[in-house]
Amino acid sequence: MKAAVYETYGPADVLEIKDVPRPEASETGVLVQVHASAVTSADWRMRASAFPGGLWLIGRLMTGLFAPRKKILGVAFAGRVVSVGAKADGFKLGDPVYGFSGSGGHAEYVAVEAAGPVVRIPEEIGYDEAATIPFGGVSALVFLRDFGKVAAGQNVLILGASGAVGAFAVQIAKHFGAEVTGVASTANVDFVRSLGADRVIDYTREDFAGGGAQYDIVLDTAGVARFARAKRVLKPEGVYVPLEFGLPTALHALWRSIAGGQRIAIGVSGDSKADLQVLNGLVEQGALRAPVAGQYRLDAIADAHRQVESRHSRGTVVVTLDAMNVNGAAV
Ligand SMILES: NC(=O)c1ccc[n+]([C@@H]2O[C@H](COP(=O)([O-])OP(=O)(O)OC[C@H]3O[C@@H](n4cnc5c(N)ncnc54)[C@H](OP(=O)(O)O)[C@@H]3O)[C@@H](O)[C@H]2O)c1
Repeated sequence: MKAAVYETYGPADVLEIKDVPRPEASETGVLVQVHASAVTSADWRMRASAFPGGLWLIGRLMTGLFAPRKKILGVAFAGRVVSVGAKADGFKLGDPVYGFSGSGGHAEYVAVEAAGPVVRIPEEIGYDEAATIPFGGVSALVFLRDFGKVAAGQNVLILGASGAVGAFAVQIAKHFGAEVTGVASTANVDFVRSLGADRVIDYTREDFAGGGAQYDIVLDTAGVARFARAKRVLKPEGVYVPLEFGLPTALHALWRSIAGGQRIAIGVSGDSKADLQVLNGLVEQGALRAPVAGQYRLDAIADAHRQVESRHSRGTVVVTLDAMNVNGAAV
């Protein structure tokens, strides 16, 4: 099968399309023919070995010290079940599914465990949109619900409201009943409003910390605020939730948890089947859109990485592996 392979860390050009052995479904797993796969911040960070704030060594120990251990990126996929293990429950041949692959999604086929983070694609969306949900949707859900403890009536500020995580975060915060202010550049103000934000701050014209508003949660997907700035707009018991953090912020979070008052909540979003099911429910209710920022063929994956690495995408970038799928029809 064809796959986008990286043998070495580096710029997007290190990605090459190669023929590699097709994986097989385990006894308890399924083999999926991939129709779309998200190209995420996690993918470009692993490819470039670009881990924030002193986490380079930890990142390298996870991905391979001298060269990548897993040579096919792609943390999230959407496709069709083409083989089912003898003891795999919940799926049958032909089912349209999506989920987390951990790695290996940027290929024609991926094998995943049926009990793992893989679910059916709701009828309302197609492969491209489904592929955006695991990374952006689950991160937004976990960071708001579990780390931020979002609740109805709260004031939530989302920095980077138009990106892969931010576009979901705006909608999920609204779903929880929060009053949402999104921060984005001029070109994305209308987009963020269309996601349901009550107010949008154009960061090219206005400083988010300058208007006098006070928030219960400041969710920073863009890595543009530090606690020192965020605390100026946080309520006394408010929480700053950065998605991009290094060791100094982790230590600072520990100190703030001891000191009391305004907190810093950090964590890793994980990959749970239950969270995918929660998001499926929102899609089915019409409460969640899955914005696709750009579609690339697998052989143009280096361009997809360049777009993601620009950090100015409107939603999630996907690679599509099937021309019939470009409009997202789940067959
Ligand atoms: N810890 C975890 O478990 C976890 C999980 C998921 C993601 N992450 C991290 O979270 C980060 C966000 O990921 P992503 O994929 O959502 O990124 P993304 O798609 O690249 O989005 C970045 C966003 O930042 C905005 N932005 C850029 N400069 C800004 C500024 N000065 N003020 C406000 N917004 C600004 C961009 O909007 P404009 O285009 O309008 O400028 C864009 O919407 C990444 O660093 C990723 O590694 C961590």
